[in-house]
Amino acid sequence: MSRNSMNYPSAPLNGGEVEICEQLWNQLHELAVEAMGSAYAPYSRYPVGAAAVTADGRFVTGCNVENAAYGIGLCAECGLVSELVRTGGGRLVAFACVNSQGEALVPCGRCRQLLYEHGGAELLLWMPAGITPMKEVLPAAFGPEDILKVGGNSGLE
Ligand code: THU
Repeated sequence: MSRNSMNYPSAPLNGGEVEICEQLWNQLHELAVEAMGSAYAPYSRYPVGAAAVTADGRFVTGCNVENAAYGIGLCAECGLVSELVRTGGGRLVAFACVNSQGEALVPCGRCRQLLYEHGGAELLLWMPAGITPMKEVLPAAFGPEDILKVGGNSGLE
């Protein structure tokens, strides 16, 4: 059994590495739209779905989950990152998130940081303006390398 409880399709692989191609972006879009359908967004009425794939071809998804205490609502990316870690971790290489119309939306600032931790500067994001690497979406990012540089504890080996 796969480590994911979700019924995800198989990502296109090339020698064990995910192949970033049109088929993959279509799969990510479809999974993000499906995840958006599970969103709990009664306050904003702005459901969001997100999907990403790891370097070894595992999909992860998330949807936004709001709360009557408005400020503690969770973005779709929070659920996605939580699923990533729960299902074995790994490096995110491609990401898409959608609004209720299935259109690309730009991840909020906090979620850019969340995604940076698990995908780094090379993570590719499907944005309204097209496919864009994280180094353009979150330039000069703070990351685990900065902590390592001064001998602090980071998630890096
Ligand atoms: N939202 C996300 O899920 N991800 C983002 O990157 C931007 C915003 C959600 C949060 C809130 O539930 C709704 O969209 C409106 O802001």
